Amino acid sequence: MATYAISGSASGIGASTRARLEATGHTVIGIDRRQQEVTCDLSTEEGCRRAIGQTLELCHGKLDGLLSGAGVGPPTSAGSILRINYLASMRLLEGLRPALEASGEAQVVQIGSNSTTVTPNVPDDLVDALLNCDGDLDEAIEMLAAFEKPIDTSIAYAATKTAITRWCRRASVSPEWVGAGIRLNVIAPGAVQTPLLEATENDETFGPLMRGLPIPAGRATPDQIADWIVFMLSPAARCAVGSVVFVDGGSDATIRTNDWPRSFTFT
Ligand code: NAI
Repeated sequence: MATYAISGSASGIGASTRARLEATGHTVIGIDRRQQEVTCDLSTEEGCRRAIGQTLELCHGKLDGLLSGAGVGPPTSAGSILRINYLASMRLLEGLRPALEASGEAQVVQIGSNSTTVTPNVPDDLVDALLNCDGDLDEAIEMLAAFEKPIDTSIAYAATKTAITRWCRRASVSPEWVGAGIRLNVIAPGAVQTPLLEATENDETFGPLMRGLPIPAGRATPDQIADWIVFMLSPAARCAVGSVVFVDGGSDATIRTNDWPRSFTFT
């Protein structure tokens, strides 16, 4: 039986994934700001450091898999979204990587989002500022100040999910990841009925936008997304490396039908 760590394990998609893995006999180390094996606030550097240290201790330096899922959405402040969705995800992936390497054949899933393709007007510069931030978010926060409130929070959300997805795709094919036997992939859900989505939907600006989003197959439950994640964490998914798996009920295919796949010019 395998040992997994899950950030965001106390609620929603993380909690459903935890329940499924435990039901089949696996061990799960939960990381969350609410009561779990590792209880910490991932919005701070110190919180991330403690989360990594305690997880490494609890797994005795060896992890078979990781779900990096802790996150917040609009209308949470843009600064919190940047710190939790991007910085903390990246710190956790980097900090737990040695334990994943120790397993020899680890599977890792980062939760991205279809906001990466269905949210308009996210500046490329903002995504680049995150990817190059080296722990300092000042430039990204300054760029977000140009947007009206609370729209800045949805731009921040899509930018963090784009940046962490790109970070994962870059890392996934490197010697430190695939070269060390670690498969790193991203799941990009659409609307999933969780407390995070409820908070967005209860907001007077975002509620109507959410309700207007086309979802041909309807919203997902956390369990339906957890089923995909459990598969992506299993050895059956070992051929996937740096893949971004969209499971969004058809929103992206409706809004961006012909945007990809797309060829490129080779010179
Ligand atoms: P949720 O609110 O049910 O779960 C998020 C978990 O993250 C909670 O247990 C929360 O306590 C934890 N968390 C948040 N901030 C934290 C912090 N500072 N320190 C430690 N833990 C913290 O939400 P949901 O929907 O299950 O979200 C899971 C992931 O899925 C998030 O990354 C979210 O962005 C992503 N996602 C969700 C979608 C949705 O429609 N619900 C759609 C696409 C992606």
